[in-house]
Formats: sequence, structure tokens, C-alpha cells
Amino acid sequence: MSKAAREKPCHLADNVRNTWRNMQETPPTRKDKFAVLKDYFGYTEFRPGQEAVINAILAGRDALAVMPTGAGKSLCYQIPALLLNGLTVVISPLISLMKDQVNALREAGVRSASLNSSLSHEEYAATMKLLYRGDCDILYIAPERLLKENFLQIQQKMQSMSQGGEDSQKITLVVIDEAHCISQWGHDFRPSYLHIAEFIKTLDQRPVIAAFTATLKVKEDILSILFLKEPFVITTGFDRQNLYFEVRKPKSKSAALLDYVQRNRNKSGIVYCNTRKTVEDVWETLSDRNFAAAKYHAGLEDAERHENQDDFLYDRKTIMVATNAFGMGIDKSNVSFVIHYNMPKNIESYYQEAGRAGRDGEPAECVLFYSGRDVRINEFLITHSNDEEAPADEALVQHNLELLKLMTWYATGTDCLRSRLLNYFGENAPSFCGNCSNCNTLFENVNITIEAQKLVSCVLRLEQRGRRFGKTMIIDIVRGGKNEKIRNFHLDTLSTYGIMKDSSSRRTRLILDFLIEQGYLALNAGEFPVVCPSARSGEIAFERKNVRMMLPKEEMPKKSAEASLPIQEFDEVLFEKLRDLRKTIAQDAGVPSYIVFSDAALRDMCRKKPVDKREFLLISGVGEIKMEKYGDIFTSLIRGYRETVN
Ligand SMILES: Nc1ncnc2c1ncn2[C@@H]1O[C@H](COP(=O)(O)OP(=O)(O)OP(=O)(O)O)[C@@H](O)[C@H]1O
Ligand SMILES: [Mg+2]
Ligand SMILES: [Zn+2]
Repeated sequence: MSKAAREKPCHLADNVRNTWRNMQETPPTRKDKFAVLKDYFGYTEFRPGQEAVINAILAGRDALAVMPTGAGKSLCYQIPALLLNGLTVVISPLISLMKDQVNALREAGVRSASLNSSLSHEEYAATMKLLYRGDCDILYIAPERLLKENFLQIQQKMQSMSQGGEDSQKITLVVIDEAHCISQWGHDFRPSYLHIAEFIKTLDQRPVIAAFTATLKVKEDILSILFLKEPFVITTGFDRQNLYFEVRKPKSKSAALLDYVQRNRNKSGIVYCNTRKTVEDVWETLSDRNFAAAKYHAGLEDAERHENQDDFLYDRKTIMVATNAFGMGIDKSNVSFVIHYNMPKNIESYYQEAGRAGRDGEPAECVLFYSGRDVRINEFLITHSNDEEAPADEALVQHNLELLKLMTWYATGTDCLRSRLLNYFGENAPSFCGNCSNCNTLFENVNITIEAQKLVSCVLRLEQRGRRFGKTMIIDIVRGGKNEKIRNFHLDTLSTYGIMKDSSSRRTRLILDFLIEQGYLALNAGEFPVVCPSARSGEIAFERKNVRMMLPKEEMPKKSAEASLPIQEFDEVLFEKLRDLRKTIAQDAGVPSYIVFSDAALRDMCRKKPVDKREFLLISGVGEIKMEKYGDIFTSLIRGYRETVN
């Protein structure tokens, strides 16, 4: 049975509702991957890695793709699904995620459905009917259901009802999305993912298996637990050039947040917090000041969580305040900022969460609000497993503390933030990207030999007196602070007391952080980490080693993402009109706006101002189906607009 189902042109509201029905009556045509890319998804070029994965799957090879959040993993299996005969089964961990994907696919004219516990009797029966008739190309399924459904029987029924070739009655491709859920070392372990291999064995013919994840560290686990056969493995570049990275150390996080959202009114964004309580507090702060904010955490009732998520997805609320429970696989493409109100436990999680910004390729900002307290809380969480049945495994604790250290260095370091992230994922990157807060603060290369000697000798002197203190205290001592602790411990009698009184506390802290990071001093982990000498302290104190570091120049203006990325001109007024039209269409169809068109597609319309369907098809994000469905209504709006402005 063919994959290239076409819809006949018809008019708007009906149009959207009828798509599904019409698609099932359409004639077969065979296409190639570029035609499918344009006709269904409206894009003309593949993103890095996509084509290679598609080729491998089409050649009948298993595949494992590790690609960052928002890189475009879905197309890597959706395109083969449309080109291969037979059914593609996609195992996906979250119901909301399936719903979103199926909506978007149907909107693009792809015959897809889902099986999960949220379906009513009728919906379930309707899905089964589609499957039996061979009228479904992509089936999303929750892992828990794999062994519950009788796929052998489904295949037999498909056989008896199908008129296509032999393969069309088979499951030809099994996709494991968010494949890191299979590993206990991953951050979202789902025991039911362990049944996938068993499920595949129940099929009479082994399908091609393709796994996708954004998490690098569980690659080996995925390969072995899924029994992939000589797979094609690819890890694509982790750089997302449209994302601007920034770390702030605000005195008041809530004031900084309010200031940020005020300046970014009307933009959609996510604020991640580390606890439910913080989510509640931040949400309240925003709501009190009339910002349209939704909240999401595991402590809310299911119904409320869903409603809040939809408020955000459907643009009824522009800001989502959430714990890390929110967001996996959600493809809301117009998220313009992701603020981390608290520092996450590791770079992997940070990058995945921050990566939910700018999925449409438009400039977007990822801002981390850092405070030392976040580090201590994370340390506490890592070292105190709250699961009494399974006390924390010592090796895992150490491993996680190491990861936390890397995250902390990202937040406190002074070199290019993007290069830090990319280095973490094993990629080489230039030391200056020009699109992160560190690069944009303009650094200068400073000789800090003398300051390093002062700090290290202060720590050594304290050690001689049998005392160790945290970073803040060390800074206070060298800057000649007068707090009670200093007096009580007679620290003002140290020879190093006050020797850096002319250095600002910020600068002193940056240098101290640098010395710890470079291993000239050590920071021992614990609830109250203290600075202590390291094996390399002597290089500074006795060998008088020359040390340089990049330090920010004082008082340089900060460039934002918008200033640092060239934005092509476009017409704001027209953009608003297009947005309104999109909203009406989306409301009519009961889908989120971004399912109809992404902001990026609307922007492209503003730039190219297409006046007929032929021109409309040149817009990025417009495929055949959407051209037929929306071409007339959008181009007539644009024509009308052009007449009024000319
Ligand atoms: N070749 C392409 N050209 C333009 N846009 C694309 C292309 N491929 C994918 N996209 C867009 O990129 C966005 C992200 O894609 P997708 O949801 O597949 O990301 P992902 O890799 O699965 O991320 P996550 O790990 O968060 O699930 C989508 O809005 C999609 O339409
Ligand atoms: Mg995805
Ligand atoms: Zn940079």
C-alpha cells in the first residue's frame, strides 16, 4: 500500500477536519526522501546527520542516532516510515508527546495513530481498524502496551485485509524514541523500556530497529539492551548556533527574572526550577504581576498538569514554570527563552532542557541563574538517596558528583560557554564563539601570578593552623573582611589577611574559582565544601609559576542574542496578522498554533510575501498538504496586506 497519501484541495475549517478522511482515499505514488521532506514537512534541506540515518534505515540497517534536543530526530524515522512498505511502530515514553507528534503528522498529511492508556474504547477501536486496513503508516505506542497488544494477530489481520504487496502487512521498522529511558544510568529510566527486545522477538520477521536519544552517556547500554545488529551509529554535532548562552549571578533571582520576562513580554519561554516549592513560589511571583504563567511539577494532579501544559502549548500562557518533569520530547517550536532559575545536576540535563529553546532555528536565549546554594543543594541530593530500599551506590554517587563539578565550572568559568558545552560532549570548539555571555563580556588575558600566590598562600597558612574554610570565607580573609568568624578565629593575625584588599570580591572569586578548576587548589565535596591545598599548590606557592587567565573587562555592555545574530528584516505588522490567522485556524482544528505553522514559517512568509500557491510552496515549513490547505487563505491575506501598504 502506498505511503504518499494526498489530500484534495478544499476549504478551511472543514478542510482541517477532513484531512484525515480524505487522505485515506488517495492514490498511491512512490517518492524519494527529498520529495517526502518537501511534500510532507515543507523543508528543502536535511539537517546534519538526518540524511545519513535515513539512508541507513532505508538500506535495512539498524541504527542508533545520538543527536541533541531539537536537532530533528523525528524526521529521521518519519521519512523512512513513509518510504518503506509496512508499518512503523514508534515506542515513545509519554502520552502527551505522542499526542503532539500524531497531531503534527496528521496535519502534514501523514497517516498516523497512537496506542496508549488514555484512549477511550471508541478511539481504541478506531485505531485498530486503521491498523487492520493498512491505513496507518506510523503507530506511536507506549512501552507498557507492547506486550499487551497482540501484534502477531494485528499483522495477520493486516494481511487478510490489505491489498498491497507482501511487506505491507508487516511491521518493517521499530523505532525507540528517547532511547535513554532504557538505561538506569540515564536520567529518565523507564523499566518498561526493558521489554522492547522481548516484544521484537514476538514478531515473526525481525524489523529494522532504530533508536534515538539526546543522551550520549548511555550509548553502550542502548546498543546492548536492544540487541542492535551491526548498527549504523551516529553522533551529530551538538552545537546549536541559534542559541545564545548566558550565566548570571543575580543578587535577587526573582528580581532578575521579573526584569527578564518584562523585557521579553509576548515571547514564549520556560523557567526551570529545582523543586516543586520553587516552582510554586516563582509561579506566584509571576502571576501576581500579571504575567501569563503556567506551572508544572509532579506534585500536581494529572488533570491540572495536562491543562497547564496545554495552556502553554496552545499559547494561552506564555511562560511555563516547571521542574525537570516538564518537556521531554515536547516540540513546541517557538520557545524563545529557557531560564534555569536553579542550576541542574549535570551538563547533560542542562543542555537537554536549555535546548528546548529555539527549535524552529530562530535566535533564542538560554540563561542560567547561578548561586552557590544550588551547588550545595545538588550535592546534598546526590549524596542523600531518598530511596531507602536502594541506598545510593557509592560509585554512582562519585560519578554524579564529578558531573556536578563540571556543571559548576560551566556556571563559574570565564571562558566561552558554548565551548564548555561542546567540549563536554567530546567536540572540539573554538575558544571564542561570540554568542555567549562570556564571549560578549569581552575578556582580557590577564597575568594573575601575584594574585594566585596570595590566594594559595592564604590557604596554606590556614592549613598550618589546622583550619579550612569555604570560598566566601577565603575571599573575606584576603580582602580584609571584618566578620565575626574572622575575629573569633583570630584570622586577622594571618600574614595573608587583607593582602588583596584592592581586588573586588568578584574578581577575587573568579581567580579563586580558576585556581580550583585548574587544580592548584582543591575543593572537597560535602554539605559545606572547603578549600584545601592540592598536590599542585606548590607550583604556585614555591615554584612561582606564571599564571594567566581570561578575566572580564569591567563594565562592558552585554550583547543579547538579537544583537549578536543577524536577523533578516521582516514586517512586524504582517507577522501579527499572520499570527492571528494561524490562531483562528488552530482553534478551529483544536490543535496548538505551532502545529499549523511554526513562527519560523510565519517569519519566512513575512520576508517572502508569497501571493500565490506556487510562491507559498517556497516557504520553509510549507509542504504540499499545507500548501493545498492553507495556501489560498494565507496568500490572500498577504495580497490584501500588500495592497494596503502600497
Ligand atoms: N530538515 C529540517 N529543516 C528544517 N526544520 C527541521 C528539519 N528537521 C527537523 N526540523 C524541525 O526541528 C524541530 C525539532 O525536531 P524534532 O522534534 O525532531 O527534534 P528532536 O531531535 O526529536 O528533539 P528532542 O530530543 O527534544 O525530542 C521541529 O520543529 C522540526 O520541524
Ligand atoms: Mg524527539
Ligand atoms: Zn562563547
